[in-house]
Amino acid sequence: MSVRLALYPGSFDPFTLGHLDIVERASRVFDRVEVTVAENTSKKTLLSLEDRRRLVTESTSHLDNVDVRSFTGLLAEYAVSRGACALVRGLRQVSDFEYEFRMAFANRRLAPDIETVFLMTSEQYALVSSSIVREIHHWGGDISSFVPPPVLGALCGTPGSDPI
Ligand code: PNS
Repeated sequence: MSVRLALYPGSFDPFTLGHLDIVERASRVFDRVEVTVAENTSKKTLLSLEDRRRLVTESTSHLDNVDVRSFTGLLAEYAVSRGACALVRGLRQVSDFEYEFRMAFANRRLAPDIETVFLMTSEQYALVSSSIVREIHHWGGDISSFVPPPVLGALCGTPGSDPI
């Protein structure tokens, strides 16, 4: 039987507990999940592509069927080249839907055999987003209830390490 691989693409700038919740859900639905850390040309990011990839890797190390890769280019083409059957996206609230709807249709036009699958986040993460984390962090607020420990360490510094 063929292995059903799903990609979970995003900017992950930074990776949040809401993202982790979606990866954990996807890892229970698919045989393998690759978190695809993408260069998003329309956004200037807080963290470099390599830092984002490393922090997602550290944050998902407890999940045996999850890998993390970074990529630059068209997601649909990349998903075909990886042999993926699905793209996973998390939905938090209705306002996410318009953007997701447009992206899913564009990706389907480019790669008709790949399904976009939406997974709903846990209620407790419905208001968590990377942009809110960046904003709180910018003003020196406490982001510990929004991000996994590796991200907290990288952004705020852990004993013996300097923040990025
Ligand atoms: O976390 P984000 O920023 O909402 O993720 C958006 C992302 C990175 C998945 C999207 O911008 C993307 O797929 N970028 C790669 C380029 C591409 O394929 N764009 C067309 C999608 S319609």
